[in-house]
Amino acid sequence: MQAPLKLLLLNELYKHRAFGFKYTHFEKKLEAQSFNSFKNIEHLKQSIWQCNLCTLSKSKKNSVFGEGNLNAKLLFVGEAPGSTEDECGRPFTGRAGELLTKIIENVLHLKREDVYLANILKCRPPKNRTPSLEEAKMCKPFLFEQIKLIKPKIIVALGATSYQHLTNDFESKISRIRGSEIPFGDAILVPTYHPSFLLRNPSAKKDVYYDMLKVKSIYEKI
Ligand code: URA
Repeated sequence: MQAPLKLLLLNELYKHRAFGFKYTHFEKKLEAQSFNSFKNIEHLKQSIWQCNLCTLSKSKKNSVFGEGNLNAKLLFVGEAPGSTEDECGRPFTGRAGELLTKIIENVLHLKREDVYLANILKCRPPKNRTPSLEEAKMCKPFLFEQIKLIKPKIIVALGATSYQHLTNDFESKISRIRGSEIPFGDAILVPTYHPSFLLRNPSAKKDVYYDMLKVKSIYEKI
């Protein structure tokens, strides 16, 4: 290997080690399990803000960590920040977010501040394209650390992308799997449609309504 290339690689490795990766294998370092645990949510937030593991960190205005009750029993996981979220650094603040807030308030009878909202990706993909597998692989460990710290009892996967990257099940169709209760570590995962999908397909709102009634009934029991 040429010297400048070696230096560049070494530089990358040092940077990743500072983020807590172990360098037993170059590919492995991108796996969720290879993260060291973070002390607390602020520590994790800081690491996300400094992250440059993928090119999205170059185009982002803000990384969007997530927000809500740090002791929430219920966590919603979306896909990635859109333009509104990128502008303000907060999740679900655009039209899809407004609809999600209505669902939380009017169907679950909770406040947005009672639950926690996060995404598979912390940075906005250009033109809101679907996150790539590589981007999701690199960013997911942050979400899993967030889940470890918040310890939700119910996780609602909003849309196929969220469901797929949370579970690594790329086969099941969201239209079939939605509304099911899937064991997910110490939590129950309930996939449903993404609110952006509902904005384009209002007739699917009734499906989400039934999925949320299920979530409500689990919520009230735990
Ligand atoms: N806003 C988010 O924060 N996540 C999404 O998945 C969509 C909009």
